[in-house]
Parts: sequence; structure tokens; C-alpha cells
Amino acid sequence: MSATIKLENKHFPVLLNELISIISPLYGGTFIDCTFGQAGYSKKILEKKYNKVIAIDRDKDVYLYAKELEKKYKKRFCFKNIKFSQINNIKIKSSDLKAIIFDLGYSINQIKDLNKGLSFKSTGKLNMKMGLNDFSCHEVISNMTENNLIKIFKFFGDEKYSKKIVRKIIEIRKRKIINTEDLTKIINSIKRFKNSKIDNSTKVFQALRIFVNKEISELINGLINAFYLLPIGGVIAVVTFHSLEDRIVKFFFRNYSEIKNPSRYVPNKDNNIRCFKLQNNKPITPNLKEQKINPPSRSAKLRFATKISNESNFEEFKQKFKYLIDIENLQFDK
Ligand SMILES: C[S@@+](CC[C@H](N)C(=O)[O-])C[C@H]1O[C@@H](n2cnc3c(N)ncnc32)[C@H](O)[C@@H]1O
Repeated sequence: MSATIKLENKHFPVLLNELISIISPLYGGTFIDCTFGQAGYSKKILEKKYNKVIAIDRDKDVYLYAKELEKKYKKRFCFKNIKFSQINNIKIKSSDLKAIIFDLGYSINQIKDLNKGLSFKSTGKLNMKMGLNDFSCHEVISNMTENNLIKIFKFFGDEKYSKKIVRKIIEIRKRKIINTEDLTKIINSIKRFKNSKIDNSTKVFQALRIFVNKEISELINGLINAFYLLPIGGVIAVVTFHSLEDRIVKFFFRNYSEIKNPSRYVPNKDNNIRCFKLQNNKPITPNLKEQKINPPSRSAKLRFATKISNESNFEEFKQKFKYLIDIENLQFDK
């Protein structure tokens, strides 16, 4: 989940000022907001009159917010209901493009939407689809084999009790259709003595959301395709919310960035093409004031890099996270 929240109908996009200060030297061109949501970033970028925004979101419900901006900014704004992995299908004069931004995860409106069932606080049929999905969580819980479910919970949720939880799911689903409340009850029955700061269900629900929405493949393909679309001098900026996402973004930027102060004495061991320049090695995180107004923002991390070359070879990046993509591609074969 992202840390975007609505307080008293006021919307707080996470790390907004920090993101804007990164991209504002590039003002006077086109920006792609890959995770439009409730328009927090897009609105701010459009305040400057020579900027244009192409906004993307897989959730068609956000069209409500897009309509307002279409009306107000006319040709300076357009919205596309696509997944950001398909960013390469956007027709744009590449030289006009200044930055591509991602604010990963879900908005609080999506989390609160009981029909989407993204939260363990939801009720009813398991869903978890953000939009443009091939299947829902209900199909995963009803049809996935024991071994595959264990892999999903372990690798996408880092859930220590994966085996026990999955065995219980398999036992119960023989008798009834498991809904959201049943799933949280199953998890609580296994973890009933565990004393954790996070809810017992957090990790399993995170794992299932990642699997249903193919979030890892989306991120990896989104980053690579963003690179190809961007001209030299353009910026990719990404806000992540959990460690798995951050690991992927960190590797992508660092592995293909110019080395700062390379040593004359240590030979360069890899043959990677350096196609990014990193300004900050460390991620930018919300200050105490933002964390106080918006507590979930605590986990947010903003990383960004400038493209410095058209040459690239992302094979090592793809290989490094192939084991996660393979899990996302597991089929139902009950
Ligand atoms: C955290 S919210 C973005 C909030 C936004 N920055 C704002 O200020 O309102 C993330 C949004 O990205 C969308 N999203 C997540 N993954 C996506 C993907 N692979 N392709 C397109 N949109 C995606 C979600 O539907 C959600 O609306």
C-alpha cells in the first residue's frame, strides 16, 4: 500500500515536495505519471503552465479525478487506463518527455473500497484486483496447489507460517468457499499467540495482492520500458512502499549507474553499461512532519536517476529477479 491518504477530504500524496523539487528543473515539457491515483502529483505538475501530463492508471475508477483535469487543462492533460508495463505503447515525441514517475502500490481509497477487497479489513468474496487483471484472489485461494501457495506467501509476504496457513486453507476449502473473513480467521488461528506490531494478516494479504496484480513483473517491465521511452537527460523517479519493491528499484538504478569516484586500483569486474546517473545513493524518505500527518508514509522511499545513455543491457536485472517472475507466472493446476 502507498502512503497516500485522505484526511478530512484533503488528499496528501506522499513525498510530493521532494518529488517536485527533483523534476522542476525539467519543467516545460511532458511528464508521465504512471500511477495517477487521485491526481496528487499530476495536479502539482500541471500548475506550471508549460507542462503537459500523460497520466496512467490500471484502475478505471480513478477516471473520476482524470475527468476534472481533462476539463481544466484540455490538451495539456490526457488519461490512459492501461498498466504501466505497457508504457512503451504510448505515442509521444520522445524529446518532449522530461520525467516518468511511479508512486507504487494502492491509494487509501482503493484500500477502503470493500468491493476491491484489498485489505484484510474487507468483507465478502476475495478479490484484490486493482484493474485489468486476469484473475482474482478467489481463484488463487480456491485453485492453487499447496506448494505454489506456500511459495507465494513465502516469497511475496516473507510469511514465516506459510506452510501451516496453507495447510489449513487446503483443509477448509474442501468444505467451503473461503472469503475474506475466513482467510483472516485461518491466519489468526495459526498465529494466535504471536506478538507482532503488524496485524497477523498483513503479510499474507500483501503476498496475495502482489500475485493477483503481478506487481513484480509490472515494476520490472515498467522500469525497463520507461528507460526506452525516455530521452537522454530525462528522469525516472519511483516511490516504493515495501522492501521487495525497493530492492528491485535500488538494483535497477545502482547496477546501471556511473560509479562515483571509481578506484584506480580496483578493476571494474562487471561489464554493465552505465546508462544512469545517480544524484543520491540513499533514498529520500518523508520528514517527521509528513510522518506525523500521514503515519503510513513512514515506509515510503523515493529513488530517482537521470538517463545518460541510450545504450543498455538489462539482462542481469531480469535474471536477478527471475525467481520472483517465475512465481508470479505459476499456473492454477489443482
Ligand atoms: C499510491 S496510488 C498513487 C497516488 C498518486 N500518486 C496520487 O498522488 O494521488 C497508486 C496508483 O497506481 C495505480 N497502479 C498500481 N499499479 C499499477 C500498474 N501496474 N499500472 C498502472 N497503474 C497502477 C493504482 O491503481 C493506484 O491508483
